Amino acid sequence: MPKQLDSSNIPKHIAIIMDGNGRWAKAKGQDRLYGHLSGVDSVRETLKAAVELGVKFLTLYAFSAENWGRPQQEVEGLMELLVSSIHGELSTMHENGVRLTTIGEVNKLPGACVESLNEAISETANNTNINLVLALNYSSREEILFATRAIAEQVQGNVLNIEEISMDSFENALYTKGIPDPELVIRTSGEHRISNFLLWQLAYAELHFTPVFWPEFRREHLIEAIYDYQRRERRFGKTSEQVISGT
Ligand code: IPE
Ligand code: IPE
Ligand code: MG
Repeated sequence: MPKQLDSSNIPKHIAIIMDGNGRWAKAKGQDRLYGHLSGVDSVRETLKAAVELGVKFLTLYAFSAENWGRPQQEVEGLMELLVSSIHGELSTMHENGVRLTTIGEVNKLPGACVESLNEAISETANNTNINLVLALNYSSREEILFATRAIAEQVQGNVLNIEEISMDSFENALYTKGIPDPELVIRTSGEHRISNFLLWQLAYAELHFTPVFWPEFRREHLIEAIYDYQRRERRFGKTSEQVISGT
């Protein structure tokens, strides 16, 4: 444990909006895809550090439903990169006890992506060190809409009474069913927004923004974010005095 971190207060779930690949590459006179490619190194390093620190869920926002609107060449490059990095990283993930899952409309990704994801998901299904949750073709508003439809269907089919629509039943209809809410969200590249990410799940998350571009994000930046998190007082609507006295 790095000496300044409190090992008893490591967030169980950290979610990261990995941003700034394009600007980082441009600043180096490279094309945007070079930024995405370099971002894979950051994913590997961050994942390794998260395992070492005892984080149990790491959710990475890799491709939003809105990202389809980018130039076709970039979208295709990202999809190819997804397939090649899953193939390239699978054995390391497995060795590190990583269990891969996804959130988002993953079945609408190109066939090769769906196939390699499914392969990696089933191969790592019994690993227990950390859950790596990739948000792919993800839109939080869509997730909430789909959950609403699923609940409405249950009511229509008399499986659920209206009075039984609860926080729990709603959460069970989200992609994140069974995953605890993130305590900490990190966004890189100096942007201060949520960009349609986990709107329901982030209700009480602590937000950490760093100017570091994603391709430069490393273990030390993860530690810095957790350090920042550990200095926050999480009040959940109560007063500071109540939090301190535990009432
Ligand atoms: C994040 O980096 C990666 C994806 C959204 C896929 P960007 O590609 O958004 O990089 P910037 O924000 O344009 O610099
Ligand atoms: C959010 O980044 C999505 C991912 C990191 C995958 P964007 O770069 O797409 O977000 P905006 O467009 O700046 O809000
Ligand atoms: Mg961006």
